Amino acid sequence: MSVATHPICPPFYFKGVHFMPLVDKRAVELVDSFEVRDDDVFVSAYVKSGTTWTQQIVSLIFAEGDISTVSKIPLMVRVPWLESIDIMGTGEPFPNVLKNAPCPRLMKTHLPYHLLPSQAKEGKGKIIYCARNVKDVIVSFHNMRTGAKDLPTGTFDENFQEFISPEQAYFGFWWDVVPEYWRHKDDNNVLFIKFEDMKRDLRGHVVKIANFLGKTLSDQRIDEVVTNCTFSAMKDNPAINFTKNPALKQKVTKDYEFLRKGEVGDWKNWLSEEQNQTLDAIYREKMEGVGLNFEFE
Ligand code: A3P
Repeated sequence: MSVATHPICPPFYFKGVHFMPLVDKRAVELVDSFEVRDDDVFVSAYVKSGTTWTQQIVSLIFAEGDISTVSKIPLMVRVPWLESIDIMGTGEPFPNVLKNAPCPRLMKTHLPYHLLPSQAKEGKGKIIYCARNVKDVIVSFHNMRTGAKDLPTGTFDENFQEFISPEQAYFGFWWDVVPEYWRHKDDNNVLFIKFEDMKRDLRGHVVKIANFLGKTLSDQRIDEVVTNCTFSAMKDNPAINFTKNPALKQKVTKDYEFLRKGEVGDWKNWLSEEQNQTLDAIYREKMEGVGLNFEFE
């Protein structure tokens, strides 16, 4: 497999949202006018919130649970990142590359709802949004930033401070971004799911996602999707876990397990009492009346 060296973009702002390297400014600018097809599927999530997990579930549902088909192609090719560039192929921003892709197009995005393609916001295509409790997101994000190459790194406290700053937080301020998607949870083309619920009931979520996508799979096919979407199965799969893929690992990581722990509540091993209280205070202030609750352990 040949992999181009990723041209690292400096962090940039687009419409007030801070983006980190690996996101491509040209791609972000092209997203608004991206022509959406009826059978497009957008897997959307704030970073480190279960994006990869949901991508694999969706990809396997479309493959009717057949892992041999999907494992031949890396997940980042099967479900490309809309606001990045095609590092495994043309080197072009994905909104341009995807113009010529066959149906159905499966895509991932970390964009806030208001920066999605206009036509998706008008109801075209389907959006599956996966949210995760913010404390585990902070920990998972810090670990990625210290382990992956070319990302802005820092101590846990530095990254924490950045995360809770509305201006500096990468991909937008969590307490703006997640409630914004939540407000669209009843739109016909949106399915809102949570990482913690998937941990508790993976099969139920595979069925829910398949129904949302209009796919009817036999019980046996559903079982196959579930078997191949557990944490251990995904961790062992080099088509997903690029840290198990020698060609990709040297390009993208220092010493990092992309599928790290996959648990609910790891924040307890990382947050100081003061940090925890800070988050609880922001949470109380920003989430009051939103009606969105998370399990934290
Ligand atoms: P941790 O760093 O806490 O382990 P994203 O794909 O949005 O970047 O999210 C990555 C997080 O999802 C990582 O969390 C990763 O381990 C977890 N994850 C990925 N696949 C998973 C699975 N099948 N089951 C549980 N967690 C999973």
